[in-house]
Amino acid sequence: TGDFTTVEAGKLHMATNAAFPPYESTSDDGGFEGIDIDLAQKIADDLGLELVVDDMDFSSVITSVQSGKEDIAMAGLTVTDERKQNVDFTDTYATGVQVIIVPEDSDIKTVDDLANDKMIGCQEGTTGYIYCSDTPENGGYGEDHVVAYTNGATAIQALLAGKVDAVVIDSQPAQEFVKANPGLKILDTEYVSEDYAIGVSKSNTGLRDALNAELKKLKDDGTVQEILDKYIKA
Ligand code: ARG
Repeated sequence: TGDFTTVEAGKLHMATNAAFPPYESTSDDGGFEGIDIDLAQKIADDLGLELVVDDMDFSSVITSVQSGKEDIAMAGLTVTDERKQNVDFTDTYATGVQVIIVPEDSDIKTVDDLANDKMIGCQEGTTGYIYCSDTPENGGYGEDHVVAYTNGATAIQALLAGKVDAVVIDSQPAQEFVKANPGLKILDTEYVSEDYAIGVSKSNTGLRDALNAELKKLKDDGTVQEILDKYIKA
């Protein structure tokens, strides 16, 4: 692999928001666990670096890489054209779909019902928030109908408390949250499909190339699939 430097010699600093199971969450022993954590650990091991997980608000994940405080942004992070202006993305290693969570007895039956003057909870700075808060002409519901919570768990608490009518969030975390909170369900109607990748500083193309080589190796030898299967139960 080519030459690259990291923020701190010998270490790989990973910016994430660890409230997004099964991609990243805090574990019972006070550490971190999830798909992104395992995958980043593999990559760091192969590159001879020590992985350091830095937990922060999701809205800081990209900017911290952009400003050179962190080496990689790995947070179930969706590739978007807008984000591509701020960071480079590696190849994709997973996919997600935005879904809608509602209380079991909700009158919201399909995605179209979200338009009927409903309040929608989202995670701050995420694609779900960006879609939902967009104008109706662009397929959104307008900023007045969307509440941004700092993370998925707080959005779910607001839904349980009746402060919002629905939560829009990525499908795999949605399943975890619904499993943990009886009385909620995921609507069948799918929303937007997304690709997850690792964000890297635009001035660290050497690291991006090394990560892509690693991702290719770990996809080809089945490691990526193994990690996904470990956390995503069919
Ligand atoms: N995939 C969505 C996005 O990139 C949500 C990611 C949220 N990740 C997190 N670790 N909280 O906007």
